[in-house]
Amino acid sequence: MNTTLIWGAAGGIGRALVDTLVTHNWRVLGIARDAAALAGAPVEAYSADLAREADVAAAALWAAQQSGGAVQLWVYAAGDMLGKPLADTTSAEWDRILTANVTGAHLALTHSLALVPPGGHLVFVGAYVDRIALPKLGAYAAAKAALDTYVTVLGKEVRDRRVTNVRVGAVDTPLWRKAPFRLPKGAHTPAAVAAAVLQAYLDGQKGALEL
Ligand SMILES: NC(=O)c1ccc[n+]([C@@H]2O[C@H](COP(=O)([O-])OP(=O)(O)OC[C@H]3O[C@@H](n4cnc5c(N)ncnc54)[C@H](OP(=O)(O)O)[C@@H]3O)[C@@H](O)[C@H]2O)c1
Repeated sequence: MNTTLIWGAAGGIGRALVDTLVTHNWRVLGIARDAAALAGAPVEAYSADLAREADVAAAALWAAQQSGGAVQLWVYAAGDMLGKPLADTTSAEWDRILTANVTGAHLALTHSLALVPPGGHLVFVGAYVDRIALPKLGAYAAAKAALDTYVTVLGKEVRDRRVTNVRVGAVDTPLWRKAPFRLPKGAHTPAAVAAAVLQAYLDGQKGALEL
């Protein structure tokens, strides 16, 4: 049985990944800010605030014990959004958005890369950075632009695993409650994004995946 480790497993896309992968007979290890949010879900869950390196380190240790160091599919599906002009964005808000979208990804990566064996797949949920460079979305757009570059460089450095940045358009999840505009018509479902991530794994995909 393959094992996946999902950071942000209680979010809209994270939870859809849990359900999709379990349905396809994967063992799912899920990290959420509060593991209780995954009660009743078909997942082994652990709590971590991705803003706290000690939490991330403890979660990675837990995942190592659970998986025996064999995570075939690793997904960073955490993130956060702020709908505010840059000039009104406080340093605490800026830190929250940068942490959830990019610094947390770096912490998760550095503490758990060793669990992904050669040939394994690292997936980050990013965005179309040009399309989100919009008023009141500055902190989020800056964070996703940083993540996009981060994953591009990571793919050039970590040559023995596959590295994917999923550039996805709008997805109907709770994140949109924080957006400064309405969910566009024709948004993806979280289940469709999860299915595309699984298909990318099965296809041996690497590099940017545009949905
Ligand atoms: N929805 C879209 O249209 C869309 C489009 C492109 C890319 N994305 C990206 O896809 C990823 C998943 O988003 P989503 O749509 O599923 O949003 P979501 O439902 O809001 O899920 C985001 C998850 O990240 C968690 N998180 C945020 N900060 C955290 C922290 N410091 N520690 C631990 N967990 C933290 C949240 O936990 P809490 O609820 O406890 O805060 C939540 O469970 C994000 O990176 C998002 O930017 C989404």
